[in-house]
Amino acid sequence: MKVVVLCGGISTERDVSLISGSMIYKTLKNKGHQAIMLDVYLGFEGSTDGIFELDKDWSESVKGISEINPDISKIKAMRPDGDKNFFGPNVIKLCQEADVVFMALHGVGGEDGKVQAAFELMGITYTGTDFTSAAMAMDKTVTKDLFNAWNINTPKGIVICRKENASKADASDEKRSIYGKYVAENGSEADIVYPCIVKATNGGSSVGVSIANTPSEFDAACDEAFKYDVKAIVEQFIKGREFAVGVIDGKALPVIEIAPKEGFYDYKNKYQAGSTVETCPADLTDSQRIKLQTMAERAYKALRYKSYARMDFMMDKDDEVYCLECNTLPGMTPTSLLPQEAAAIGMDFGELCDRIINMAIGK
Ligand SMILES: Nc1ncnc2c1ncn2[C@@H]1O[C@H](COP(=O)(O)OP(=O)(O)O)[C@@H](O)[C@H]1O
Ligand SMILES: [Mg+2]
Repeated sequence: MKVVVLCGGISTERDVSLISGSMIYKTLKNKGHQAIMLDVYLGFEGSTDGIFELDKDWSESVKGISEINPDISKIKAMRPDGDKNFFGPNVIKLCQEADVVFMALHGVGGEDGKVQAAFELMGITYTGTDFTSAAMAMDKTVTKDLFNAWNINTPKGIVICRKENASKADASDEKRSIYGKYVAENGSEADIVYPCIVKATNGGSSVGVSIANTPSEFDAACDEAFKYDVKAIVEQFIKGREFAVGVIDGKALPVIEIAPKEGFYDYKNKYQAGSTVETCPADLTDSQRIKLQTMAERAYKALRYKSYARMDFMMDKDDEVYCLECNTLPGMTPTSLLPQEAAAIGMDFGELCDRIINMAIGK
């Protein structure tokens, strides 16, 4: 089958996406697919004749993930034709020639439904969920509204923006209340309770997420979150164990526990080997496990997912489970969370990639 593995892009999760992409690409190639790997933003310059038959390792130039998220301005400067069009040279053409596009993108522009919507209009078959669910999951405020509507427990929180940006956020004037230099969207009068978590509403890979214990840490946390979005979520901090649950075609996989050796599950602890202990299946009682898996399946329905997704959870000392968010295109290397969960039911990485392709082409 002709497959374009689409990765890279200009989100803060670019480097992670390149690793997901190269792992998927290598696996598909080994399985005999005519696979090529493309950076959605940088594209491919040159002749595309017979490109799917070329004997070339497309993943050669991909390096590891550094401790910090990438400098996107450098990537933008690499586009000789300017960056008016998100899709790089030949990307659409090659995606249209392929039987299926394997979506290995993470973050804004890829995981947020925009690429999926464009592909649907262009008749391109792609893996993963559709643009509606992807867009809803990308905005953590929408996700939390859906959780609340479906009685899926999620940490209590408020949405804030800077006063000067209030007009750019969606809240209506009568709903706004003032928090010092911030404006709360839901008019909540509650004071900020410490510790709290501050996160950009459209983030991923923990970029723009911080814990604040004091008002000055809160200000710093807001500065960090507002680098990425005009809105931020301020959430109660849940102390306890962290878990993730992948869902494929509506059915939950085994639960994985994530225990960073230091601090919380931030960018560094997510991608630097050895900094986090991951246990799958997690050491849980049956009732704890069922609670997490049921909640993951309900979250999948609430967000109207198709194909696959991964949900993130915290569980406090009283076994109260909180769903933090949903990931539309979760990390896809053999050691990423969802692939580890699939391996726990005997589905290796190659089989997982095939299953995802088969769901896309309707097999
Ligand atoms: N309310 C919370 N209480 C405790 N820890 C949290 C909370 N929200 C987020 N975290 C921590 O921050 C990490 C990233 O937050 P998350 O909501 O999953 O955003 P993303 O993964 O999209 O950046 C989580 O994996 C968890 O370790
Ligand atoms: Mg997460």
